[in-house]
Amino acid sequence: MSEVLDRKVVADDSAKVDSDVAGRAAPEVTKGAICIDDVVKIYDPDGAAVMAVDHCSIDIPAGEICMIVGPSGCGKTTLLNAIAGFHDITSGSIHLDGELLCGPGKPEATPGSDRIVVFQNGALFPWKTNLENIAFGPLMAGKLSKSEIYDKARSMMADAGLSGTENNYPGEVSSGLRRRVEIVRALMNDPKVLLFDEPYRALDSLTKSVMHEALLEIYYRNKVTIFFITHDLEEAIFLGHRLIIMSSRPCKPKKIVDVDIPHPRDYSVLTSSRFREIMLEAKGVVHEEAQKAFDAGEKEG
Ligand SMILES: Nc1ncnc2c1ncn2[C@@H]1O[C@H](COP(=O)(O)OP(=O)(O)OP(=O)(O)O)[C@@H](O)[C@H]1O
Ligand SMILES: [Mg+2]
Repeated sequence: MSEVLDRKVVADDSAKVDSDVAGRAAPEVTKGAICIDDVVKIYDPDGAAVMAVDHCSIDIPAGEICMIVGPSGCGKTTLLNAIAGFHDITSGSIHLDGELLCGPGKPEATPGSDRIVVFQNGALFPWKTNLENIAFGPLMAGKLSKSEIYDKARSMMADAGLSGTENNYPGEVSSGLRRRVEIVRALMNDPKVLLFDEPYRALDSLTKSVMHEALLEIYYRNKVTIFFITHDLEEAIFLGHRLIIMSSRPCKPKKIVDVDIPHPRDYSVLTSSRFREIMLEAKGVVHEEAQKAFDAGEKEG
């Protein structure tokens, strides 16, 4: 049975709408459009088959911050890994800016520097300074001169509030600053897409809020497409242009919510009535899917 998605209408006529709102994210960004079309992923199809993604279709415009929420084990990471090119898909296709990443005629996963998974812990070289970590990728690629790379790295660090930490080692700065270094390091490679898998899960809510504002600041200066998985609805609504609420496993979009709160945002939006309305609307669907996953788990157990 085909499922009609309940897609929210963006802002009403009376609202003053920023040019950078839901569904029309960052119109000046021309690269990084992802088309996930009818994707199925079955692990071990010949053995104890586990279907993780079920005929999932999502169009993500270039420059959108697309937030993915859904029950534990529903298949979110599987989808992220498929976009990153870490594993193949069983059927369907994924395109980036019209180029086939995987699908008919291209069965193998294709990782590429145009899509970067931002690892939040342990991916920095502890024996290199922050500046050296950030410059490392482009130095290896060898497309720019050393001085151009270091100039760019210093400038991006300054934009991200990392001035003064260039010569520190990752272990010498706070975890919040380390996470910024990770993001800047990813952006140094000029990716089209950044992929985040619950990056702030372990943080307390105050540190999280600082990280959210820092991420948005970095995003406003370096607009790329962001595919961001989280279990935290507040995080999803605060950051995202759109919220894709996934069904319980196997995952596919259950509901798509346009977060029609204009960017740039700061934490004051959390107290707005629109924020609360969106939260309420999303919560119901998330809860329903979580309950289904819980019930299914109980049956399986
Ligand atoms: N390599 C694998 N081989 C077999 N099954 C797998 C593999 N990776 C994941 N799975 C299964 O696929 C399903 C989806 O897993 P996935 O990690 O994508 O879910 P998730 O939504 O990211 O979960 P969580 O919210 O807990 O991170 C789960 O049932 C999981 O056990
Ligand atoms: Mg996961």
